[in-house]
Amino acid sequence: MRHNFDEIIDRKNIHSSKWDDCNYRFGVDKNVEMIPMWIADMDFNSPKEVVDEIKKRAAVGNYGYIVTSEDFYNSIISWFKKRYDVNVKKDWIVFSPGVLSGLNAAIQSLTNKNDGIIIQEPVYYPFMDGANNNERKIVNNQLINTNGHYEIDFDDLEAKCKDSNNKLMIISNPHNPVGRSWTKEELIKLCKLCCDNDVILISDEIHSDLTMKGHKHEVVLGLSDEISQNSIVMHSASKTFNLAGLQTAYSIIPNENLRNKVVEQLKKNRITNMNWFGPCALIAAYNDCEYYVDELCEYVYQNMLYMKEFIDRKLPNIKMNISEATYMVWVDFRGTGMSNDQIEYFITNEAHIGVDYGRWFGKAGEGFLRINLACPRKILKKAMDNLLNAFKKIDD
Ligand SMILES: Cc1ncc(COP(=O)(O)O)c(C=O)c1O
Repeated sequence: MRHNFDEIIDRKNIHSSKWDDCNYRFGVDKNVEMIPMWIADMDFNSPKEVVDEIKKRAAVGNYGYIVTSEDFYNSIISWFKKRYDVNVKKDWIVFSPGVLSGLNAAIQSLTNKNDGIIIQEPVYYPFMDGANNNERKIVNNQLINTNGHYEIDFDDLEAKCKDSNNKLMIISNPHNPVGRSWTKEELIKLCKLCCDNDVILISDEIHSDLTMKGHKHEVVLGLSDEISQNSIVMHSASKTFNLAGLQTAYSIIPNENLRNKVVEQLKKNRITNMNWFGPCALIAAYNDCEYYVDELCEYVYQNMLYMKEFIDRKLPNIKMNISEATYMVWVDFRGTGMSNDQIEYFITNEAHIGVDYGRWFGKAGEGFLRINLACPRKILKKAMDNLLNAFKKIDD
């Protein structure tokens, strides 16, 4: 591999949220050595090409306001063409510091107070926050879990789309936390229901570059003209290249009317200026670092295989599937016989692993934990040893 994903990077005392905030976040004494596998960033460095570009920019020594460059747009357009064979036009691309600031601007500008927003629990909880904080109603089209494989309840979705109070649907494509890479057939069916019932679709595709072998990510804008006119894709280079702290994301909005509304709202929210480093990192990543994504997916896939094999062999009461996409695994602890509170206490205070609790993703997440496997295998092995030893302690 060109990039060394085995390298252990010391992320302590560099203001890393994942590492420096872990004990505090989980209420654990600061002297306890926790293994942070929670928030969605990676313990791998960004590709060398990105780091070099940032160093070059830092060396300039002047960090005043910046203007969006042609290179920014061109690198996004070329990324979608080479990775997904989807044609994106420059005018469709709208900058926001995070996917979530874009998402909130879309909620504010495309819906009204008390409108229903359809989401699919268990799902990335800021979708619910976006609805709640803006006084919209959460309408849950709950996913169906069959032996750890999650599917869309289309009958329920159809009923919810047909309810004229529901104006917007937000999907995680691929799905965080359950790791599904939605198929073309599933997406066409879902998008058609939205189109036919005037429900605008936001497809959050921030994890799409991390689609595992054997699966293919479908950008909803590539499905048909009708779907593309009814949909917004939200994306960022942040998950793929570990750039979340550089605050550079974007939406792709082909429909001019929808786009104007979102752009106006972003302006109202005073979300206008990019930072100095985000765009140059994105450009270097998209233009020069395809190799990194391919290697990253392979490394994460091997981590998943390692964990699954470990659990199947040594901890058969726990169930996990290999995720089809994302570097997260969604692990079912219900077979341990512990209550949800006990599971959370156990993983945090006995196994000393910081993970996202399943209930954060909605009630359907109770009994589950989301574990972030974007880490060197040595860290994963230590986490698995902690888990096994914690279970042994209970048994003794
Ligand atoms: C599905 C999904 N959307 C959005 C985000 C956050 O994006 P941003 O940091 O660009 O706001 C995350 C981060 O974990 C995510 O998993």
